[in-house]
Amino acid sequence: MTEIEDSIVAIDGFSSCGKSTLAKELAKELGYRFIDSGAMYRACTLYFLDNNIDINNVEAITTALDDIDIEFQNIDGYNATFLNGENVTSEIRSLRVANQVSEVAAIKVVRQKMVKLQNAMGAQKRIVMDGRDIGSVVFPNAEHKFFITAEVEVRVKRRHNELTTKGKTVTMEEVRKNLEHRDHIDSTRKESPLTKTPSHILIDNSYLTRAEQLMVALKHIKAKSKI
Ligand code: DC
Repeated sequence: MTEIEDSIVAIDGFSSCGKSTLAKELAKELGYRFIDSGAMYRACTLYFLDNNIDINNVEAITTALDDIDIEFQNIDGYNATFLNGENVTSEIRSLRVANQVSEVAAIKVVRQKMVKLQNAMGAQKRIVMDGRDIGSVVFPNAEHKFFITAEVEVRVKRRHNELTTKGKTVTMEEVRKNLEHRDHIDSTRKESPLTKTPSHILIDNSYLTRAEQLMVALKHIKAKSKI
């Protein structure tokens, strides 16, 4: 385990760049809590779909948000997402949710509620959180910030592999369309678009193994640490 002073590690970047993989491994190495903020937007999306909430109706969304409770639980070393007490870890990865989540994540009231929950999760520090606005909006003063990128082809292959390994039937073309669609919305939306701030350290992991990526990030963290 790597010892550093109590910190917040923010990891941002495009979809399917390996952010969560790095975040999980860093959390393990530092003995910190890992939070996948994208899972929170996905859980909201699932709730809206299952309850036929019109995402163009701000009033309906605002009311529905009061009925949404999102929690993370460690189950056998696996970080599970719970929506109103139900384990939705697998369901939030479906294409049905993926196809709607960027629209939901662009809604101001949704972001306000998620950011509030995320801020509370980081109150005691010792957290690694990945997402799109973690270093820019959620924790602008995070001690460590990384911006992860990878080439589009590499990302399409990774996501396709991830989905098919989980038994989902999906073509490369469908995955590519979904990724490009989400990249576009995530980086051009009005509310907290994906941004690399000057204090983010850029890591392109297209040709890095998981172990190499972890080593690069840890090197930066240790270099900044006062311990
Ligand atoms: O990381 P992911 O693919 O699970 O994220 C799902 C969606 O949520 C994606 O379209 C971007 C959005 N998101 C966001 O806007 N802000 C975050 N902090 C995390 C995710």
